[in-house]
Amino acid sequence: MTEVKRPARLDTCGRVAMISGANRGIGLAIARRLYEDGYDLSLGARDTEALAAATAEMADSRVLRHAFDATRREDAGPWAEATVARFGRIDAVINNAGISGRFAFDALDEDVLDRMWEVNVKAPYRVILAALPYLRAGGEGRIVNLVSLAGIRQLTSSAAYTISKFAAMGLTHSARHYLFEDGIRVTAICPGDTNTDMTVHSPRANEEKTQPEDLAEIVSHVIALPNTASVATVPVNCIAEAFL
Ligand SMILES: NC(=O)c1ccc[n+]([C@@H]2O[C@H](COP(=O)([O-])OP(=O)(O)OC[C@H]3O[C@@H](n4cnc5c(N)ncnc54)[C@H](OP(=O)(O)O)[C@@H]3O)[C@@H](O)[C@H]2O)c1
Repeated sequence: MTEVKRPARLDTCGRVAMISGANRGIGLAIARRLYEDGYDLSLGARDTEALAAATAEMADSRVLRHAFDATRREDAGPWAEATVARFGRIDAVINNAGISGRFAFDALDEDVLDRMWEVNVKAPYRVILAALPYLRAGGEGRIVNLVSLAGIRQLTSSAAYTISKFAAMGLTHSARHYLFEDGIRVTAICPGDTNTDMTVHSPRANEEKTQPEDLAEIVSHVIALPNTASVATVPVNCIAEAFL
């Protein structure tokens, strides 16, 4: 064996991460974790006042808070451009903003399905494309899509959410293949029941669920790995399930 000497973690100080839906839940936990890691942050949210309140402890010099509505096709480009105007680079994109929706399998509600398609699939695709020239430029770009265990198997009570998250998984794997030669590594984080507003109706006690901070720790680790350690999918569970 030839020993290759290089750091097992990228130097994250001064790298720039865009995070959608950073005002609450998993997105806010990731923002806090990456801030601790030394990233400069470009945080996207529909309600920038709520975002500012939630991230008030962060120094303005290291954080850009930008309007981003995943249902608006025109929002991804200006957000990426504003990020580069402020920090000069983009090293990581965390596509976190997402919604759930449900209808009985035999009572298709196309409006609900269209909303999830827009927010959970098309918007992340647009953000990736808007950031792509800058992710390519650094040679060590990172993309994380918050997918779900519902993107791997059907278990939730919503077939509709599962359909949208399987599509988000398709986006992740397409990006991973197409962008590999550019040094860009793409990961689907696939949590189960996680303690956020999205699961308030879950019968499980909050302390038994995966915590947003657990996922933030995983994201922090995955996007700091070198190009030689591509992580395609991370299933995360708070219960025992066969294979997951
Ligand atoms: N919680 C879970 O058990 C779980 C499990 C698996 C996967 N996930 C995924 O993890 C991600 C984060 O979920 P979470 O649990 O943190 O959910 P959450 O607490 O409901 O937060 C959702 C986030 O997405 C944002 N968002 C929703 N629609 C948006 C839009 N049109 N434009 C911009 N932002 C929008 C929300 O912003 P507003 O505050 O403006 O609504 C909020 O910041 C989602 O992709 C979700 O599908 C969650």
